[in-house]
Amino acid sequence: MKIAIMGFGTVGTGVEEILYKKKESLLKNCFDIEIDRVLIRDKDKKRSPLKSDIVFTDDFDEILNSQVDTVIDVTSSLEETYERIVLLMKAGKNIVTANKAVVSKYFEELNALARENKVYFSYEASVAGAIPVIHPIMEESFFSDMNKIHGILNGTSNYILSKMEVEGSSYADVLKEAQDLGYAEADPTADVGGFDAMRKIRILSSLIYNAKIDEGDIFTFGISNIKKSDFDYAKELGYSIRLIAKSVLSQGKINISVIPTFLKDNFFAKTFDGTNAVKVWGENFSCYEFKGPGAGRLETADAIMRDLLRILSRREINTFYDASNSYEVENNLKSKFYVRTSKVNPGLKELIEEERVLGQDHHIITREINLDELKTVLDDEMFIVEIEGTI
Ligand SMILES: NC(=O)c1ccc[n+]([C@@H]2O[C@H](COP(=O)([O-])OP(=O)(O)OC[C@H]3O[C@@H](n4cnc5c(N)ncnc54)[C@H](OP(=O)(O)O)[C@@H]3O)[C@@H](O)[C@H]2O)c1
Repeated sequence: MKIAIMGFGTVGTGVEEILYKKKESLLKNCFDIEIDRVLIRDKDKKRSPLKSDIVFTDDFDEILNSQVDTVIDVTSSLEETYERIVLLMKAGKNIVTANKAVVSKYFEELNALARENKVYFSYEASVAGAIPVIHPIMEESFFSDMNKIHGILNGTSNYILSKMEVEGSSYADVLKEAQDLGYAEADPTADVGGFDAMRKIRILSSLIYNAKIDEGDIFTFGISNIKKSDFDYAKELGYSIRLIAKSVLSQGKINISVIPTFLKDNFFAKTFDGTNAVKVWGENFSCYEFKGPGAGRLETADAIMRDLLRILSRREINTFYDASNSYEVENNLKSKFYVRTSKVNPGLKELIEEERVLGQDHHIITREINLDELKTVLDDEMFIVEIEGTI
């Protein structure tokens, strides 16, 4: 079976390594997988594939016009890769992708196109790295209504938060350490701003509710303004802080957000470093918990290999997602929030239940309000945390 890979960076090299190392055991089970060619952007970059005769090309048409059965997308591009996936599906090629930006932005279009062209569209690696999350949820959605999902879905932010908590370090120091170790990108905005987690909760929530959710409707608040004093405050109340991506379907409305959260000693609070964790609630079970490596070269490649194997053995789920349900996004469920700010604006003043001034900063606990109410008083000075002791 011939396949092609688009991208040969961190994850692409991991895919090649697994295929190379497991060639014999795959062959023993009649999976003769051959990498026909690999698409890259920069033809002059030095590459060191384990199989020395791998063919690299920067000409997408060579892949489009080839006889390959399945194309693995591990590029870091958004629009160009989306356009290429469309052409590949129309040409009858199955797609396996780790590219969460493409999956999240074009989820409806790509699922519909896969159905139309009778090809498989598999994206297990796009959420929570090595952890099998997408397929268990997909399978479950045939038999059990699910109405709630929460997750730590970004390893970089979790690394920063858990290090700050355990070591008492500052945000800037831990971010620099994460960048030096290669855990965080030079531009960490997508991770620490919450946008990466937002894409993943969009994918998971769309799946469990079988409904379209626009990225722009997801309230997204990251950790880039967090201070050591927030951890001191949390600790005093017996809480940890983690960036939680969450969604709940309640009375026909989807509450969905990515927001730093105060947590008591529980499944999420006990998630450290780059680990990801997901908890989903359903009709036929109280809840599932998943935990494991949320990113990494071989970890992500491993999830891709599982998708590839399902496709090659023709036991992949033919795209069931059709967004046939329609729910409004409204963050109307009530919680208390912690707000730290150097200036209390008049709107926020109305919401205060408790307030403590430490140095320049006001540390505030609001009365029970919903996120949509908090949004109306939010300004650039504020760092906000949802207080949730029960998930
Ligand atoms: N790294 C992880 O742990 C992880 C985890 C889950 C999901 N993902 C997702 O997996 C994808 C790959 O991540 P990565 O960490 O492997 O990225 P990476 O190391 O930056 O590698 C990206 C690769 O894609 C190629 N590429 C980018 N745009 C291209 C284009 N328009 N045409 C052809 N080739 C193109 C690059 O080519 P050149 O080599 O020529 O520059 C490079 O080989 C991303 O979408 C990422 O979000 C990554």
